[in-house]
Amino acid sequence: MTDSRSYLVAQLTDLHIKAGGKLSYGMVDTAGALHRAIDTLLAAPQQPDTVIITGDLADFGSADEYRFLRDILQRLPMPVLLLPGNHDRRTTLRQVFADHGYLFANGDAEAPVHYAVDAGPLRLVGFDCTVPGKPGGRAEPDGLAWLDATLAATPGRPTLVMLHHPPFVTGIGHMDRQGLENAGTLEAVIARHPHVERVVCGHLHRQITRRFGGTIAMTAPGPAHQVTLDLDPDAPSGFRMEPPGYLLHWWHPAHGLVTHLAASGDYGPAHPFFDASGRLID
Ligand SMILES: [Fe+2]
Repeated sequence: MTDSRSYLVAQLTDLHIKAGGKLSYGMVDTAGALHRAIDTLLAAPQQPDTVIITGDLADFGSADEYRFLRDILQRLPMPVLLLPGNHDRRTTLRQVFADHGYLFANGDAEAPVHYAVDAGPLRLVGFDCTVPGKPGGRAEPDGLAWLDATLAATPGRPTLVMLHHPPFVTGIGHMDRQGLENAGTLEAVIARHPHVERVVCGHLHRQITRRFGGTIAMTAPGPAHQVTLDLDPDAPSGFRMEPPGYLLHWWHPAHGLVTHLAASGDYGPAHPFFDASGRLID
């Protein structure tokens, strides 16, 4: 980092890894896409201090898929925090990533994967809103009580709350029908804790932002396929191979939390605006 006071969190999401590099939906090379995202991260001028992955790590939640993912993630030299999405299975995730101690902070086996981790000046709070066997999510009363107490324990510390399902209606009908139940109750909890800088989510495979509980809630794009942008409530469910990406959350104590949308892939070298004599190139 160029400024030792700054801190960089990269957010990947919705990897949908299949074992052995099998294609998702018969056509998406999700493992290749994750490799390209990691290539991009590692080649960037600044390396993230921590990587968070906000769910749908595996496509069907099998041990083979998690083992395949685990091998790919070995390429990342910085800490990596995992959170389950609706495609994941908590018990299997915990078995394969048994050395990720934070995954057990709220229990083992089928217990929701809630955790809070200090990352430099930031606090990263994972809130598991998945409902086993269901595509939609729910903010359960027990989890909300845990979240409220966890946020109350570190007032003033800049915090990112991570959950898979965005807690707002996006306008993409087929995804909203598998959205988050109880989002209003979650919003009331978040509103009590003004040190929450962001609520960061996945699930939508594209970048969407909304005001939420006095802070900003946003989803991240996928490194592979994106959910089709169609705001007709009856639009069919589908995805497109739009440019993939991830989010870079840049914290600086003088500037707050600034989020960049980063494109995954190789788009060639940087080009100058100015010529050798300092004139804007005409
Ligand atoms: Fe997903």
